[in-house]
Formats: sequence, C-alpha cells, structure tokens
Amino acid sequence: MSAPAFDLQSHSLHSDGDLPVADVVANAAEAGVELLALSDHDTVDGVDEALAAGALHGVRITPATEISAVDGPYEDLHVLGYGIDHRSALLQERLADARADRERRADAMAERLEKLGFAVDPAPIEARKAAGKPVGRPHLAQAVLDHPDNAERLVEEGHESVSTFIPAYLIQGKPGYVARTHPTVEEAIGWIHDAAGVAVWAHPFWDISEPDEVLAAVDRYSAAGLDGVEVFYTSHTEEQTLLLADRCAELGLLRTGSSDYHGPDHRLFSRFRAFDLHGREPNLGPIAHGTLAAPARGGDGLCIWLTGLSGSGKSTVGRIAAGELRDRGYRVEMLDGDDVRQNICDGLGFSREDREINVRRIAFVADLLARNGVVTFVAAVSPYRRPRDDARARMGARFVEVHVRASVETCEERDVKGLYERARAGKIEAFTGVSDPYEEPLSPELELDTESESAQDSAARLVELVEARLAERAEAERAAAG
Ligand code: ADX
Repeated sequence: MSAPAFDLQSHSLHSDGDLPVADVVANAAEAGVELLALSDHDTVDGVDEALAAGALHGVRITPATEISAVDGPYEDLHVLGYGIDHRSALLQERLADARADRERRADAMAERLEKLGFAVDPAPIEARKAAGKPVGRPHLAQAVLDHPDNAERLVEEGHESVSTFIPAYLIQGKPGYVARTHPTVEEAIGWIHDAAGVAVWAHPFWDISEPDEVLAAVDRYSAAGLDGVEVFYTSHTEEQTLLLADRCAELGLLRTGSSDYHGPDHRLFSRFRAFDLHGREPNLGPIAHGTLAAPARGGDGLCIWLTGLSGSGKSTVGRIAAGELRDRGYRVEMLDGDDVRQNICDGLGFSREDREINVRRIAFVADLLARNGVVTFVAAVSPYRRPRDDARARMGARFVEVHVRASVETCEERDVKGLYERARAGKIEAFTGVSDPYEEPLSPELELDTESESAQDSAARLVELVEARLAERAEAERAAAG
C-alpha cells in the first residue's frame, strides 16, 4: 500500500522544528505530500508563509496549530486545529496567552532546576522569548546540557541528550517539573471552534499508553465537541491504530494522520509520510480540501456574503449596494448564485452535496477577489451553516455574513421565478424553505429584513457596513505597521 499523500503535522522554527517554514513545505513537496498542515505549537505565525510556499510548490495547505492542553492528570495533551481562521485576532490573543503561560511555567521550572544545583544558561531561553518563540522543556533541558558547569554531573548521571534529561527531571512527578493548568482540552476545542476550525486530538498513544484510558478520553472529548482523532501516527502500533479507527467510526469522528515532521535530522520525526494506515480509511472531512492559494501581499477587500431564501432579495439588494460602491470608487464584483451556476458550477444540482460544492467554489473565488482588494458580493441561498462557516474560516476578518430575511410566505407570494409554485406542486425536489431546510446564520454581521424595509434602505445599510468595515481594517493595518 502506498504511503498517504497527506501529512497533517509539521513543525518549523516558529516552534520546535529545525527548519524555516519554506524549507518544511519544500521538503514536503519533495516527499510527495499533497495536503500539508504546519502545526507549530501554540502559534499560527508560520501559516501565511506556509500558504505562500504551498502555492509555489503545489502543496495544498490547511491552516493549523497544535494547542497544548491539560485534562486532570494528563498535563500535556495536544489538540490540533485545522482549517482555522489563522488571522482571527481572538485566536491569536488566546494563543499568545497560552505561550505566556508556558513561559511563566518555563521560568518556574528553570528556577527549580537551579535549586537542584544545575546551572541554566539564560541566553538561549531569553533569545527564544525575544523572538516570540515558545520555550518548552526541550529548550530548558538543552540550556542545562549546554552549560559547562553541569558537565561533570551530567556525565555522572548519564545524560547526554534531552531525551534522557527530560524524563529524569522534567516530567510529572520529577523534581524540576511544574504543571500547567490552562487551557483544558475542552477550552482548546472551544478556541478552535471559535476560529471556525476542526478540532482533532493529536497522537493519543504518544501521551497516554493505556488503551482503556485513551478510549475513555476519546469518548469524553467527543462529548465535549471534538471533531476527530489523529488515528494514524508515526509511533502508533497497528493495534493502537485499529482501536482508534474503530472508536472514531463508532462516534462519527474524523480520522487524520501525520508523521509530525520536525526536520530531516530530528531523532524521531524526520520523514514526511512516515505513518501507516494499517489498511484503514482516513476520513479528513473538511480538512481534505486545503488550499493552494497564497495569501495576498496587499490590497484589502471584503466578501459580503448574502444568504437567504430564494426570492428574499439577495441579488436585488446586492446589486444596488454594489452599484453605489462602484460609484464611490471601490472595485466591486458580484458572484450571483444563478450566474455562478451558469458558469463555474454548470452541472451541479441541489442535493446537499452539490450545494456544498457550489458554496465552496463560490467561497474560493470570493476569497481570491477579496484578498486582492475587491469588495465582493455573494448572493447565494447557501442554506447550510457548515459550508458558510467554512467560508468564514477561509476568509477570516474579510468575511461579512448578511442574512437577507424574508419569510417563506413572503418569498412565495413574490415568487419571482415561479419556482415556489412548482416546488409546492412537487415538480422541484429539495426546494429550500419548502422541502429542504434553510439553516439561519447564528450570528450574522447584519440582518436585512426585506419585508419591512425597502431594497434601497437595505442596500444603504449594506454600503454603510462595507465602508465601516474597510475603514476598521485600514486602521488596524496602520496600527500594525506602527
Ligand atoms: S445554493 O443552495 O447552492 O446556495 P444557489 O444560490 O446557487 O443555491 O441557487 C439558488 C437558485 O436556484 C434559487 O434562487 C432558485 O432560483 C434556483 N433553484 C432551483 N432549484 C432549487 C432548489 N431545489 N432549492 C433552492 N433553489 C433552487
């Protein structure tokens, strides 16, 4: 059986990997990886670089991070976030806080090591902190190993590398160890979901060896909203893999995998695609798509996503707003459901699957436009929440969801295209609002009630929102540039 062409963990200099992001991605391409995640610990700083390098090498990238989390006695479990909005300010803030917590803990452990009589070289630790990089136990151990004052004692105790020093001093129950308390696994899952991502428990058997404990944890995290498990992993045995694969299938969880690449010279994680499916099927769900699009270098646009029932007024309101913004000098485009179905989605029907494909294609094009300075209106029924949330994840702060609201009764009365009548007569299957659900947005940026408000007034509110949002983003960019 050929090795999987996806590899959903790799690490760069942004955390504990040995290589710059561009080299990680280049090596992945060289190894035949087609879908990659850069999963640096508690940071998304390398993701834009990974997206750019992925576009260059033809490797699809899913924006990711690996969050360290605690769960009762388990003090260092890892939760992977995939397809996250890595530009989310809230996510970045939370990760920064997690790193700060890690730093405080690193300081506490350094203090303990000193109390135990070791000299800890502060220079490499401070350098990592100054560069905004996480300080972990490997770095602390290295700072001890590298200090000449410890040489004699290290020889005496038989420590030549971090791999013996850490278990002797820096794990639970050992004297240099300080526990973390935050975030919990459940919190980490919440952070990932808030950033519109998919939460996957990384390498369960790397952290917990007892099968019963692992399965109990999978059940617990699944109940807490976990979306998947890293079933296929470089150190997992066949037995462990099958056990996890079966439990995930039972619970309807995604099944992902990785080699956890850290660089070609890493002791354990040095080869892409070095994990085995043991005859089982992975299930990557929405992670499978990734993207080949590089982040834009400049020019900021928006995607105004108008969702609502057929006949609710999406196209009408969108067109008026688009015209007004064009008059004001903005670059504007409109992706209208009917138009898109004529051109890029020719042949797609209205099954759930076809609609999801339709929405994904629209989101892909809208993203390309929006990130290149175009104010892009989308007018599509887009009845299902999940694909809309995926679109939000793809576009981050450039995504503005607008619910164009009108009751089924009103739309039916309007029945501009005569479709409701045909749907009621059973001549159209799965018609949204009649014989197929419309899942309302839970927290849209704007709601336009086209029953009580004229199209002109709705469009005016839309224009106002666009201008405010663009001004906000320009202001944030100026602040970031100092
Ligand atoms: S979506 O569901 O995939 O987002 P989209 O906006 O592209 O839909 O297309 C919806 C338009 O197709 C409607 O405005 C209507 O004119 C037409 N249509 C045809 N069949 C259906 C159906 N079963 N449900 C909803 N709209 C339909």
